[in-house]
Amino acid sequence: MDAKVVVVGSLNMDLVARAQRLPRGGETLAGDSFFTVPGGKGANQAVAVARLGASVAMVGNVGDDAYGQQLRQALEVEGVDCQGVGECPGVSSGVALIVVDAASENAIVIIPGGNGLLTPESVQRFDALLQGSEVIICQLEVPIETVAWTLARGHALGKTVILNPAPATGPLPAEWYPHIDYLIPNESEAEALTGLPVTDQASAQAAAERLRALGAGKVIVTLGPQGALYVDGQGARHFPATPVQSLDTTAAGDTFVGGFAAHLANGFPINDAIVFGQRAAAISVTRAGAQPSIPYLAELAP
Ligand code: RIB
Repeated sequence: MDAKVVVVGSLNMDLVARAQRLPRGGETLAGDSFFTVPGGKGANQAVAVARLGASVAMVGNVGDDAYGQQLRQALEVEGVDCQGVGECPGVSSGVALIVVDAASENAIVIIPGGNGLLTPESVQRFDALLQGSEVIICQLEVPIETVAWTLARGHALGKTVILNPAPATGPLPAEWYPHIDYLIPNESEAEALTGLPVTDQASAQAAAERLRALGAGKVIVTLGPQGALYVDGQGARHFPATPVQSLDTTAAGDTFVGGFAAHLANGFPINDAIVFGQRAAAISVTRAGAQPSIPYLAELAP
């Protein structure tokens, strides 16, 4: 059976230290705890789709190390189709070094490893997955030429194409925009993409309108505790966040994107899909780690 959603993106092993605060440059800081969990924006989004009710396939790379085997296994136990997950000989798997502070903020350094070797050709080999899907999701933790190819291919196939531009370091190539149905940045990513400061609903709307003027079909700016702002050709709509006691925001954005995509692929209207993604993300921030924090469908009471 074809997977409804295909995620083309990264798989990382997350090495997570918790400390009272994030260290400053040059500082050695004693932390409180350490754990190792599967992560990577692509893999997190695939897990979120699977747990939240839609069939999903992952296209990505791991290295030929123990982390690679664990990352693949973490997806397989969730029922993610892993035929598109390649193993790169002589290369490490992607790794993310994460520090989470007492206020649940994080700082992340990623080492791409196998993710950096995901070429357009390696995605093209799994074109049948793209053809059989309804929704295709990309992020920016794999080479940009691969993201560019996948967005263009997804658009040419008439699929719903989602780009979560994370991590964003600057503007996206202009030719990408017409290929994107839903662009889903957070505040800092919207700021990096537009050069406009994004701190609240009004500034998120200004940034989203700039992104739409560049050609993005629909834009959802996620604003953490300030909710999410959706902008399309009809105007802007704000979706407030459910107040929660936040423990760790790692993968909250991935949970939103995965939940949103799963609901969209299951035929729900956009408003419902946004609210569903928000409810899933609200649960994820109350739990530690990336993939372990992502809820299952049964946990989202109607
Ligand atoms: O979005 C969270 C993810 O970012 C982590 O799991 C880490 O691997 C980095 O890719």
